[in-house]
Amino acid sequence: MRRKIIAGNWKMNNNLNSSVSLINSISKKIQSKTCEVYVAPSFPFFTEIQKKCHLDYIKILAQNVSSFSKGAFTGEVSCDMLKSVGVNSVIIGHSERRNQFKEHNNILLDKIKICLKNNFEVFFCIGEDFKSRESRLEYSIIEEQLKNTIFQLTDIDLGKLIIAYEPVWAIGTGLTANHEQIQEMHKFIRDLFKNTYSDSKSSMLPIIYGGSVNSKNSEKIFQQNDVDGGLIGGASLISDDFINIINSI
Ligand code: PGA
Repeated sequence: MRRKIIAGNWKMNNNLNSSVSLINSISKKIQSKTCEVYVAPSFPFFTEIQKKCHLDYIKILAQNVSSFSKGAFTGEVSCDMLKSVGVNSVIIGHSERRNQFKEHNNILLDKIKICLKNNFEVFFCIGEDFKSRESRLEYSIIEEQLKNTIFQLTDIDLGKLIIAYEPVWAIGTGLTANHEQIQEMHKFIRDLFKNTYSDSKSSMLPIIYGGSVNSKNSEKIFQQNDVDGGLIGGASLISDDFINIINSI
């Protein structure tokens, strides 16, 4: 059985008070353990959030990490720092980091390497933009993104990897890829892993979907064979919506 995962990416939203009340509300409403649940608050609030959540049910996910291990890198947060506050899962390659902070494949590969070296779990995001989808280049873009990053690593523990397929045109726009498009892409990604590594490794790899998932469309998306959960942005900021999404898997 593959892992089922729902992760809430809070991005740069919420201050200390609103982060704490959101996690309190989510913790109270979570009923049964239907899947693994992660939340990704901002760095300053990790410790406070950890105190409030049922740690068995909800794990903290970092939104970013440095590609360097330590030293004179103003503003960066290292794996070691995250570990010291009990966090060892991180999102890498989110399109907002790729596009707005110019994180290209080389830096993403460095981040993946340092995370795996530190035994971190990596949520690695890949996805095509609208123009590529319009020009029917989505499959080659996805293949390219993997070839230039993860697939450079021949000896990789896929047990520490979660792939998040997030079409850029669906993030925060209210547009969602339809469930056929999502299933086809997830299957394509799984096949790429099968061809690069092995059938057994790829069949256990969690591939989650992100891009305007909400409590109305989540059930149908999660029913698809190769969809193992979701990376949720906007809807993870509203506890009822997030809980409904968790319950729909
Ligand atoms: P969204 O964001 O759910 O608001 O579209 C998803 C993401 O950025 O991971």
